[in-house]
Amino acid sequence: MERPAWAPRSIDITVPSVSRMYDYYLGGSHNFEVDREAARRAMEFMPGLPKIMQANRAFMRRAVRFAVGEGITQFLDIGSGIPTFGNVHEVAQAADPGARVMYVDHDPVAVAHSQAVLEGNDNAGILAADLRKPREILDSAEVHELIDLNRPVALLLVAILHFVEDTDDPYTAVTELREALAPGSMLVLTHASYEGIPLPPERAGGAVDVYKNIRNPLIMRSRDEIARFFEGYDMVEPGLVSPPRWRPDTAPEDEDPYAFSGFAGVGRKA
Ligand SMILES: C[S@@+](CC[C@H](N)C(=O)[O-])C[C@H]1O[C@@H](n2cnc3c(N)ncnc32)[C@H](O)[C@@H]1O
Repeated sequence: MERPAWAPRSIDITVPSVSRMYDYYLGGSHNFEVDREAARRAMEFMPGLPKIMQANRAFMRRAVRFAVGEGITQFLDIGSGIPTFGNVHEVAQAADPGARVMYVDHDPVAVAHSQAVLEGNDNAGILAADLRKPREILDSAEVHELIDLNRPVALLLVAILHFVEDTDDPYTAVTELREALAPGSMLVLTHASYEGIPLPPERAGGAVDVYKNIRNPLIMRSRDEIARFFEGYDMVEPGLVSPPRWRPDTAPEDEDPYAFSGFAGVGRKA
């Protein structure tokens, strides 16, 4: 298989990756046949997967604009993925040209592509690091160059925590991050769940099995389990809801039924 220029030598392009599958669902071009094949298999069980991803991205953009409106100009986006249209730095810097954005991802394609997209942008950067090791993120020179942790930050954990298994203790990682943030900081989070999917769980489970089979299990958590990630934050109205119901720009009723899958919310640290 030919390796395009954007694919770092270190990656195995015969194994599907969740970030490249996500890029495929969103209509991007940074994916290989193995990724497309796995994504299509998942879509056989849940044809509405792209709608879920679009609703997730639309929520993320509204939440970023909301945060800028509340005076936040620093963004730490962990699990940022392969930048497609309407990225955090584009939305934040359109609202406030001085906004600073630090992206973090452990996927080498996401990192390489972000480096290319961000070239020449002094107020945005990308760090290769893992959410499961929050200290490495918080202590990194790259983060400190862009982000002043003594001032409020919007921490984005958007569509990432459902890739962190309980054995890797995602709650401790989220707590460690919260403890490092200044008062007034925000947590912007989305998470997959069986709740809201317009299919019986057995059928949606077929799509979840595709992720298990590529050794990147998708952890479907309940609303209560997802709400626990917001411990130590006050929920911003309307609380933890399906993505189209979070401060919508247009009537949520117009959305595809799949868009109501999973949960989205924003919390503010007192
Ligand atoms: C579904 S994408 C979400 C991208 C973006 N946040 C969004 O919502 O549009 C999930 C991203 O999280 C990254 N990821 C998964 N587990 C991670 C971890 N433990 N540390 C850092 N990144 C991780 C994946 O590489 C992927 O790029």
